[in-house]
Amino acid sequence: MSVHKTVVITGASQGIGAGLVKTFLDKGWNVVGTSRRISETTSLDRAGRLELVDGDVSDPDTAERVSQIALEQFGSIDALVNNAGVFFTKPFLDYTIDDFRRLSATNIEGFVHFTKHAIRQMLRQKSGGSVVTITSSLTDHPIAGVMASLPMITKGGLNAITKSLALEFASDNIRVNAVSPGVVDTPLHATNSKDYLRSLSPMGTITAVQEIVDGVVYLTESSNITGEVLHVDNGAHLGKW
Ligand SMILES: NC(=O)c1ccc[n+]([C@@H]2O[C@H](COP(=O)([O-])OP(=O)(O)OC[C@H]3O[C@@H](n4cnc5c(N)ncnc54)[C@H](OP(=O)(O)O)[C@@H]3O)[C@@H](O)[C@H]2O)c1
Repeated sequence: MSVHKTVVITGASQGIGAGLVKTFLDKGWNVVGTSRRISETTSLDRAGRLELVDGDVSDPDTAERVSQIALEQFGSIDALVNNAGVFFTKPFLDYTIDDFRRLSATNIEGFVHFTKHAIRQMLRQKSGGSVVTITSSLTDHPIAGVMASLPMITKGGLNAITKSLALEFASDNIRVNAVSPGVVDTPLHATNSKDYLRSLSPMGTITAVQEIVDGVVYLTESSNITGEVLHVDNGAHLGKW
C-alpha cells in the first residue's frame, strides 16, 4: 500500500484535467485520471503513481471501476476533482432536450456518481478528505452574447450542492469546494479568437490552466476551507465592466 495520498481526477485527458494530473503528481500524490479516451492521450507521462482509466463519467460503472483501481493500486481515495464537463452555447430557444440530457449526464450525473463513491470511501477511511468541482463564473454573472443558459443550470447546481455537501459532511472532516473559472486557455476554446476571449473579463486576460490547477490544489490541501466557491476568473463574476 502506498504512503502517498490519492486523488481521482475526471476529465483528465486534456486542458485543466491534464494540468491537474501533472501538478498533483509533482506534489507527490498518487493520481487516478479518467476520461472517455484517456488511454489514447499522449500528453501525460506514464508513471508508477499514475493510473489511467477509460470511461464516460455519466455511466455509474466508470466511477465504480475508478474507485476499485484507486483502492487496488494505492489503497485509499483522499481527494476527488470533478473536472469533466461539457459546455456549448446556443440561444435558449434552440437548445433541444437532448442537449439538456447530454449536459446533465456529464456535468451533473458524473458529479453524483464520482462524489458518492469518493465520500463513501472517505467515510470508511475515517481520515477526512476533499472534493473540488470545476464550475463556471457565468453562473454568477452571465455575459450578453454568451448564450449558456442550459450549461449554467448544471454549473449553478454544482455550486449549490457544493455548499449542501460541505455542511452535510463537515463533521466527518470531508471538505467540499468549487473553483469557478472565467475563460481558461484550453482546447475547449480552440475555435474562439483570443481577442474575443480577452473581452470576456474586466481584467482583459485569459486564465492559464496552471492558475485553475493552483486554486484546486490550494483547496484540496487546505484544512479549514469548506463550502467555498473560489473564483479564478479575472474578475468576470463581478458584474458589468
Ligand atoms: N476552458 C474554460 O474556459 C472553462 C471555463 C469555465 C469552466 N470550465 C470547466 O472546466 C472543466 C474542464 O474544462 P476544459 O476547458 O479543460 O475542457 P476540455 O479541454 O474540453 O476537456 C474536457 C475533458 O473532459 C473529458 N470529458 C468530456 N466529457 C466526458 C464524459 N462524458 N466522460 C468523461 N470525460 C469526459 C474530456 O476527455 P474525453 O473526450 O476523453 O472524454 C476532457 O478530458 C469543465 O468542467 C469545464 O466546463 C472551463
